[in-house]
Amino acid sequence: MKTAFFNTKRYDERSFTEINRAYGHELTFFEPRLTPETASLASGFPAVCVFINDDLGEETLRAISTTGTQVIALRCAGFNNINLAVAKELGLTIVRVPAYSPYAVAEHAVGLIMTLNRKLYRAYNRVRDDNFSLDGLLGFDLHGKTVGVVGTGKIGQCFAQIMNGFGCQLLAYDVQPNPACVELGVDYVELPQLLSRADIISLHCPLLPATHHLINAQSLQHLKPGAMLINTSRGGLIDTPAVIEAIKSGRVGYLGIDVYEQEGGLFFEDLSDTVIQDDTFQLLQSFPNVVITAHQGFFTQEALHNIAETTLSNLTDIEIGRPCNHEVIAP
Ligand code: NAI
Repeated sequence: MKTAFFNTKRYDERSFTEINRAYGHELTFFEPRLTPETASLASGFPAVCVFINDDLGEETLRAISTTGTQVIALRCAGFNNINLAVAKELGLTIVRVPAYSPYAVAEHAVGLIMTLNRKLYRAYNRVRDDNFSLDGLLGFDLHGKTVGVVGTGKIGQCFAQIMNGFGCQLLAYDVQPNPACVELGVDYVELPQLLSRADIISLHCPLLPATHHLINAQSLQHLKPGAMLINTSRGGLIDTPAVIEAIKSGRVGYLGIDVYEQEGGLFFEDLSDTVIQDDTFQLLQSFPNVVITAHQGFFTQEALHNIAETTLSNLTDIEIGRPCNHEVIAP
């Protein structure tokens, strides 16, 4: 299928081109994000392939639909960036990659925990500077600590299994408990109880109207003072200004995020030569107990391979009219 890829980097082009040898789709790679301003690039392409930070709001959807696009292939799991009601009205088919490597994201969440706890970012810089002092690097044993997992789907389950290996006590909150987690010994509780008991909280639920700003000024009141908060899911799960206040008061003792609500336009770009205009982001960066990575949880060789394989297979399904079980059905 003739497909316009938006928001592409060299690594996308490399993995898709290689795996497409077995599929034979006609792929064109564009660097810009898909937005109302760049939608004209999709003209004449029956399919577009997009990523998490492309803008699939009403204006873009109407523009690409008018110029012949019928299929939106998301090369990611989340689809919170699509106006599903408008897509449905326009008859657009949406496919996604529901799972490509839950290990990648779960392991990154653990990486953030280790980095924050043992202050590896500071230790690395110190040693490079021939400063071998340990002052300020004191961590804690993970063994025996209570870890709260919010959302125990594919990634949350992997994360729980890893933390179980560290010897942590596991609590979870999910609207649908996962039997594999129950078997692991995870104790399902309500969110306020999880927040008040956990030393480390890791978010692994999708961004939905029900989960938007799940962590806000009110829910932060429940937090055990000095708790660690990890978000590798979606930035919108956290009300960032409220978390900043909680960091300043000491309620949040550590924050590790791979996602940020306003990350579009920041993440995935080299902005090292520019002055970042987002004061909230800059303030977050200034705290010594905050570690930010730029949405790299998914970024492993295995995940990139699986993303390309599933996306291209989805396009083939749609092209030949074969049922595709990765279709996003608008409610
Ligand atoms: P999944 O669909 O397997 O699991 C999501 C879990 O969240 C399910 O168990 C579901 O019941 C639960 N859930 C739904 N609504 C909830 C609510 N209101 N409260 C609590 N739990 C709720 O999804 P998966 O594959 O585990 O991915 C989780 C999230 O991770 C994705 O939605 C995506 O936002 C994020 N993600 C981040 C990546 C990164 O690079 N940082 C890469 C891939 C996914």
